[in-house]
Amino acid sequence: MTSRAHLGVIAFLSTEMDARALRAALDFGLIETLAAAPADMGQLSRRSRLAPRSLALLVDMLEANRVIVRDGDVLRLTPAFRDALRFRDLLEARIAFADLVWPDIHSLFNALLADAPQFMARSKTFDLFRYDRCFELSAENRAATQAWTRFTTCLTKYEADAALDEIDLDGVGDFVDLGGNTGEFSLALLRRRPDLLATVVDLPVVCAIGRDHVAAIAPAQAAAIAFHACDMRRDPLPAPADLVAFKSALHDWPDADARRLLARARDVVRPGGRLMIFERAPLHFRSGRPPYGLAPDLMFLHFLRHPALYLETLGELGFVDIDCRRIALEVDFHFIVARRPEASP
Ligand SMILES: C[S@@+](CC[C@H](N)C(=O)[O-])C[C@H]1O[C@@H](n2cnc3c(N)ncnc32)[C@H](O)[C@@H]1O
Repeated sequence: MTSRAHLGVIAFLSTEMDARALRAALDFGLIETLAAAPADMGQLSRRSRLAPRSLALLVDMLEANRVIVRDGDVLRLTPAFRDALRFRDLLEARIAFADLVWPDIHSLFNALLADAPQFMARSKTFDLFRYDRCFELSAENRAATQAWTRFTTCLTKYEADAALDEIDLDGVGDFVDLGGNTGEFSLALLRRRPDLLATVVDLPVVCAIGRDHVAAIAPAQAAAIAFHACDMRRDPLPAPADLVAFKSALHDWPDADARRLLARARDVVRPGGRLMIFERAPLHFRSGRPPYGLAPDLMFLHFLRHPALYLETLGELGFVDIDCRRIALEVDFHFIVARRPEASP
């Protein structure tokens, strides 16, 4: 099983004040200073240029959150925070994403619970995921789309391996990721199987961002990932492949649309090939309070499904060997894999 060490990040984002102190410590250079070597308050004050009482407040907050520990006059990062800091991009993305949705949770929590349409209409978060701005290539649409793909890209970078650990990739020659965003899931697959060919299906602006993303972070893999820009609800889809995925893509759609997408996906699976679905499960926080860092997950309260709809639809579509597992990450996910029979029409 791939390491899940990145899950430790969320322990430092329990409350908004924890996130504020960490963001400030990153911005004022305290974390970088302490990552290089232990330091005393004088050294931190010179580095951060913060007034003594401001620095003292910040240090107290970081100590209470077990980011740092005092040893006499000397301050150092705790071993647990050092581990979390290896995933600094995830830590920063979690803070930024939570900060973005927090005003909605703060002012509209009752509507979120009791009146989902009202919540959607008034929430600013859903303005962010504007798929209607992903069709026309323009600088404005690109900037608006990047405002959310930076989150999906970072989360998928860390979520992909948990799904890939569950699937046997022997004999897979090609892969299609429906709603595959900037190609991050395909990149994770190619790290395991560099000989594969992947196709990412997504809206035109997302595909344009994805092409640049892959070329920038993994130029050696760029030739192995094709981007197929289309509206997957109605446009022609790529040629059939051995493995086809929906990762965190089906929850966007009401039941009837999700069923239609699954029916379309069936034809993209080569007979004998497999379809996989990797989706957040309905939320629960039975083992502890929702941490601030998971505030974005609350926004999807009404969208996250029980897997029954997927399992039933896959059966109706003639898939066999349908397997469904639960994978525990920061929240639970469903991992479903099903085979299209060799002899299917
Ligand atoms: C919630 S995101 C998940 C992205 C990615 N699979 C991940 O897990 O990070 C849903 C994806 O579906 C894409 N999408 C939405 N509507 C689409 C459509 N009609 N056709 C193709 N892609 C679509 C979005 O652009 C987005 O990349």
